[in-house]
Amino acid sequence: MSLKNLQKVVNVSKRKILVTMALPYANGALHLGHMVEAIQTDIWVRFQQLRGHDCHYICASDAHGTPIMIKAREMNLEPADLANKYRQEAAADYQDFSIKLDNFYTTDSPENYELACLIYQRLKTKGDIETREITQAYDEEAEMFLPDRFIKGECPHCHAKDQYGDNCEVCSKTYDSGELIEPRSVLTGKTPVQKKTAHYFFQLANYETYLKQWVSEEHLQPEVANKLKEWFETGLKAWDITRDKPYFGFEIPDAPNKYFYVWLDAPVGYMASFKNYCTQHPSINFDEFWSEDSSTELYHFIGKDITYFHGLFWPAMLHGAGFRTPTAVFTHGFLTIDGQKMSKSRGTFIKARSYLNHFEPTYLRYYLAAKLTSRVEDIDLNLEDFTQRINADLVGKLVNIASRTAGFINKKFDNQLASELEAPALYQQFVAEGEFIAQAYEARDFNRAIRLIMSLTDKANQYVDEKKPWVLAKDVEQAKTVQWVCTMALNLFKVLMTYLKPIVPDLAARTEVFLNQGSLTWDNIKTPYLNVRIEKFKPLLQRIEAEKINAMLAENKQTELPVTEKTILDEYPIKPEISIDDFSKIDLRIAKIIKAEHVENANKLIQLTLDIGGGEKQVFAGIKSAYAPEDLVGKMTVMVANLAPRKMRFGLSEGMVLAAGAGGKELWILSPDEGAMPGMPVK
Ligand code: 2FM
Ligand code: ZN
Repeated sequence: MSLKNLQKVVNVSKRKILVTMALPYANGALHLGHMVEAIQTDIWVRFQQLRGHDCHYICASDAHGTPIMIKAREMNLEPADLANKYRQEAAADYQDFSIKLDNFYTTDSPENYELACLIYQRLKTKGDIETREITQAYDEEAEMFLPDRFIKGECPHCHAKDQYGDNCEVCSKTYDSGELIEPRSVLTGKTPVQKKTAHYFFQLANYETYLKQWVSEEHLQPEVANKLKEWFETGLKAWDITRDKPYFGFEIPDAPNKYFYVWLDAPVGYMASFKNYCTQHPSINFDEFWSEDSSTELYHFIGKDITYFHGLFWPAMLHGAGFRTPTAVFTHGFLTIDGQKMSKSRGTFIKARSYLNHFEPTYLRYYLAAKLTSRVEDIDLNLEDFTQRINADLVGKLVNIASRTAGFINKKFDNQLASELEAPALYQQFVAEGEFIAQAYEARDFNRAIRLIMSLTDKANQYVDEKKPWVLAKDVEQAKTVQWVCTMALNLFKVLMTYLKPIVPDLAARTEVFLNQGSLTWDNIKTPYLNVRIEKFKPLLQRIEAEKINAMLAENKQTELPVTEKTILDEYPIKPEISIDDFSKIDLRIAKIIKAEHVENANKLIQLTLDIGGGEKQVFAGIKSAYAPEDLVGKMTVMVANLAPRKMRFGLSEGMVLAAGAGGKELWILSPDEGAMPGMPVK
């Protein structure tokens, strides 16, 4: 949001705000990547509520689409039942991460059907929907059209086998699924045929003028606005909003066997979930929030992979259908763990539930907040830094203020706080800092908010260090001073905990019990707690033990690796049958790797020179993610020796080395037992 707008909304006394986060697909468990967004959104919502605004937080399960339909089929469930199972799991995960959603609904709902149809009809009436005949890959056995991800084959560019229908993981080129060599359906192994079908397209170009002014820093972060502006240069393409039967979704009115593409009804799910929430809370008015002239605020928190949908299609759909458009869309980056993409084999593909099995949400919420800014950067969860930071900041500094002073009040003063502050000017300094902290929260710069709060925390500790109540307590004449100093320290602690409450609500709730004066609110910051009784101090937060981190990683390693035959086969179904004659055409030989070299400009390839007993072959093998060339020299392996040579960008490849595994680090070349000689045929 521009500074001008920010100023405008900050000055309004009681704002009406509707906040959403992206709807998670209902086809799997939530992981820590999902929690980055949930935590970022939740902190912002809690901050608005703490400031006294009316702020509603809405989400839903994104229930429709092909992957959910296929997964349900495999599990012998109805798609709606599968979606419901994951919705319930996700709802529990959010709740246990203290994500205070007002409604977590589903896109497979009557409200969503109605609203999606309404928007579609309005766009159609305006002439924004066009019918076009398209040709698409079709699996005759499964009797369904195949999305690109459901077609595999040989890359038309580098000839790598087993590549998806949209891009090659070996050479990174993109292409149409029709260009794949020997394409096959991942559902049945059949060769897809090309079939014609009529689809509906939303004419995004009709909104070019509108979007050109909408896509700006008023509604988007500058880097997102700039990225989206690139689309105007290439021209706004019509958007295919149709999928053919069988599809888990909403059938399009007046178009039997045609369904809305999941991305059409997904964002409408924001409205539908809110509508459902309004039904449960009649004092909240749906139209007040969604009518074209609404004076309420609407914000969507999303990840950087879906800006196109939220920055172009969604405002165009809303505007076209006569609804209000978002006040702003806030985009965040991805989560990395220890500097790398989450990985199942390293155990860093951490499920939300698995984190919760070992830790309370406070730690992750604080750590992520300390890294979140208003920019679209990726966020790294460095597990060692995580442990140190929590132990140092939250336990060592923040909670320490209370743990080193509360005991005196409990034991020596019958839990009674003094009637005066020992250092009122210092207290005022803490109060005054509130406006800067609020500005940082408002701008989603939680990193800055935490830096400001932690610098005050250091000041509070310095104060206690200087006053040394434990020394004063030895002198009976200083009794009153001890009570004043500890009262002062506990009031500073109270201010700090109020500032941190949106980030660590559970810790704040335990603090509220300990201080025994009701809820910590932003308004109450200026009023110190004096002359009142507190509760007996109990440790408010445990340190993180390194073993627990290891236990969490071990758990994810175990549960995420395919351990039973069934799960491996689920993931890699056996290909269609071949005859023994087909098989005997393949000449497999033992090969000794005599040379292994890097290939310039190739991310995945290693150039191997293989001795096959009296002859040498050169092979480019896509195994760089798992092996360094120097580890390979001298090893025996198995190769396909009679594969027709293929000309690759880097040279001629005269065969193929056999390897097993999912890819990435999980890849193992086959190695024969000792005694095998180069050139021996594999039988
Ligand atoms: O990318 C995703 O995970 C989608 N399920 C997000 C949908 S957000 C909204 F538009 F519904
Ligand atoms: Zn390729």
